[in-house]
Amino acid sequence: MTIRIGLLGAGRIGKVHAKAIAATADARLVAVADAVDAAAQSLAAEHAAAVRSIDGIVGADDIDAVFITSPTDTHADLIVASAQAGKAIFCEKPIDLSRQRVRDSLAVVERTGATLMVGFNRRFDPNFRAVRRQIDGGMIGDVEMVTIISRDPGPPPLEYLARSGGLLRDMTIHDFDMARFLLGEEPSEVSALGSVLVDPAIAGVPDIDSVAVTLRTPSGKLCQISNSRRAVYGYDQRIEVHGSAGMARAENMYESTAEVATADGYHRPPLMNFFLERYMPAYLAEVAAFVHAVTTGTPPSPTGIDGLRALVLADAAVESLRTGRSVAVDGLDPS
Ligand SMILES: NC(=O)c1ccc[n+]([C@@H]2O[C@H](COP(=O)([O-])OP(=O)(O)OC[C@H]3O[C@@H](n4cnc5c(N)ncnc54)[C@H](O)[C@@H]3O)[C@@H](O)[C@H]2O)c1
Repeated sequence: MTIRIGLLGAGRIGKVHAKAIAATADARLVAVADAVDAAAQSLAAEHAAAVRSIDGIVGADDIDAVFITSPTDTHADLIVASAQAGKAIFCEKPIDLSRQRVRDSLAVVERTGATLMVGFNRRFDPNFRAVRRQIDGGMIGDVEMVTIISRDPGPPPLEYLARSGGLLRDMTIHDFDMARFLLGEEPSEVSALGSVLVDPAIAGVPDIDSVAVTLRTPSGKLCQISNSRRAVYGYDQRIEVHGSAGMARAENMYESTAEVATADGYHRPPLMNFFLERYMPAYLAEVAAFVHAVTTGTPPSPTGIDGLRALVLADAAVESLRTGRSVAVDGLDPS
């Protein structure tokens, strides 16, 4: 069975998913829609797909699943329309910036029985998965402290930032999900300190470009997240999990494993520069998991509730930034 896919949004991440769909057995990119015709035309031509309107994809009989890869503020409406049209849905993170809108769209997904997977691609990174396997296998004992370092090589355009919902809901949301993935217990307390250190224009959005977040779970497990919109040495993506019987970590990925030693010391190639290169294996595994869920009728993971829980943590961090205090989160009821 081949899943026929329509892509809604042909921007940065839309192109990544089109590439991943092309590389996935049992999946075919049938049509592309974008608010900018030239963007849709160019991506569709690259993949021998058709250009259609959003309605022409969501309402079409020859489309089984949609990929929602348009800006965040369009996701909730597209989820609702796609679920009502009986499509399986892959939606990029975050589902929306408003918790109520997320809840409302998830209610429609539940009512219609639609399949919905949320794009927390880092769960599919082979390195991070290997760390999780060590935790699950009991190799490091009980998880006590998680450290997540996630720094972009440079900030996105100000126009992107203005629609993004801010650093915590746009970028740190990946790390909130990764924290949940690794801690094995829902965080119940969040505290955050943020600054503008990279580009003063970001303060005018308004947004921050650097943040340090601490999470604590009911049993006392801790997680520290360090985010920056700048890393002059490349895309810095590392995790470390400290447990009662050991430690597991995943290091950065380099452009190659070649290392040169001279009288000046050891020299390594640059880091893989950004998400397209660094996480391509994760995007491929993510799309394969979605297609597998749709073809077998099994529930996909991460779910809409995972999307909601990460947003609840992001909202708590925003509140902590505003008040200068740590904020309690009810891990069982993300209301
Ligand atoms: N998982 C990841 O690694 C990852 C990485 C980047 C972005 N994202 C998420 O993906 C989404 C898109 O981000 P991006 O960086 O690709 O943005 P982008 O601005 O590069 O692309 C968005 C595209 O959507 C189009 N568009 C705008 N309004 C539309 C509409 N109403 N219908 C259809 N198309 C529309 C734009 O013309 C543009 O081509 C965001 O929600 C972002 O948070 C996820």
